[in-house]
Amino acid sequence: MKTKVGVFFGGRSVEHEISVISALQAIAALDAGRYDAVPIYITKQGRWLTGEVLLDSANYRDMAALARRATEVWMKPEYGDHRLYRKGRLGRTQVVAQFDVALPVLHGTNGEDGTFQGLMELIGIPYVGCNVLSSAVGMDKIAMKMMLRESGIPVIDYVWFTDRQWGTERDDLVARIEEKIGYPVIVKPANLGSSVGISRARGHAELVRAVGEAIGYSSRIIVERMIDPLREINCSVCGSADDHRASVCEEPLRSGEILSYADKYMSGGGTGTKNGGTKMSGAAGAKSGTASGGMSSTKRRIPADLPETVSEEIRRLAAETFRVLGCEGVARVDFILDGAEVVYVNEINTIPGSLSFYLWEATGLSFDKLMDTLIAQALKRERDKGHKTVSYDQNIFAYTGAAGAKGGTKFSGKK
Ligand SMILES: Nc1ncnc2c1ncn2[C@@H]1O[C@H](COP(=O)(O)OP(=O)(O)O)[C@@H](O)[C@H]1O
Ligand SMILES: [Mg+2]
Repeated sequence: MKTKVGVFFGGRSVEHEISVISALQAIAALDAGRYDAVPIYITKQGRWLTGEVLLDSANYRDMAALARRATEVWMKPEYGDHRLYRKGRLGRTQVVAQFDVALPVLHGTNGEDGTFQGLMELIGIPYVGCNVLSSAVGMDKIAMKMMLRESGIPVIDYVWFTDRQWGTERDDLVARIEEKIGYPVIVKPANLGSSVGISRARGHAELVRAVGEAIGYSSRIIVERMIDPLREINCSVCGSADDHRASVCEEPLRSGEILSYADKYMSGGGTGTKNGGTKMSGAAGAKSGTASGGMSSTKRRIPADLPETVSEEIRRLAAETFRVLGCEGVARVDFILDGAEVVYVNEINTIPGSLSFYLWEATGLSFDKLMDTLIAQALKRERDKGHKTVSYDQNIFAYTGAAGAKGGTKFSGKK
């Protein structure tokens, strides 16, 4: 019997469009002989849609028309109910599909950050990739750096604060930034992606403006020492927290000082590797049209041109980052190099653009095999969970002795 895979994408995120591209690539890579893919597109407003119409990227040009042609669906927040519902005739509820495993291909907020994963946990559906904690930590650049630094993984010096603190203790914060880091700095919202809201500042006035911009996107802000000149190297890791491996490294190529949204997704056609569009149109199911290949169309060099010792160190640190954060599935760890040999972990993407398939192809694992690995692992995690105790088969309310005792008094004597 085929495994039914609910593929969730889109979402309330600034990376909405990129997620659509990544998901259509993933659906196309699923072996049609083994899997039935059910596309579930989450609109920018948060509505859930399904239907064949979602499989052609050309249909996303007119979102209103797409929404009319697709079917609005929902799930019940009920443990064990894996069904997708729609409104039927006479207001009756109909079952549209039922799935065995969820594949979130959501980038950024409301999907890559543990929220979607939490929903799957509540409903009890196995899902691909990081769990709630690793997704949430991976999404928040502040929490992530704290955890990595604590584990001895090199990260760039930073100062962080909330928008509220910026309002009440700005002078102190500026003094701390100038003392601890010094200009130039990079200012980032803590929990976005795709370079949105990020800018650099070479002095006080620019810092104030950059923080103002970042605050428009997030209430948590991180200011980092700016590495200049820098090289950027990415490495993907796939597996579980205890058993994983790192891919070859890539070097995405920038047009300006910061790797921008346009560099990442709008440069069209990679260098030095086969990827993107060809894959989407060739494989079963999804019709890709000619839209950008998302992350797989970034201009890049694979493998990155690095001395063997440096690329091995990067791969080791990528794997260690994955382990420390408790990741699962496929992630991409992004590095910043200062000079020839000083390596920092910049960030992790727990649902990377194009699921990093182009890095795995270059490492010898095809996209369809990558999908097999991810789904098998999600199902295995669910089986393993069955061995953990989640509740005691006891009802403390049934003990007459406990009746009447109001918590604290009963237990306080035992401390
Ligand atoms: N400390 C830094 N020094 C210099 N450039 C940086 C620094 N941090 C980020 N950048 C540039 O900004 C880009 C986006 O930053 P990143 O932290 O990767 O955020 P995002 O999650 O939006 O991708 C990076 O790819 C890099 O080009
Ligand atoms: Mg980045």
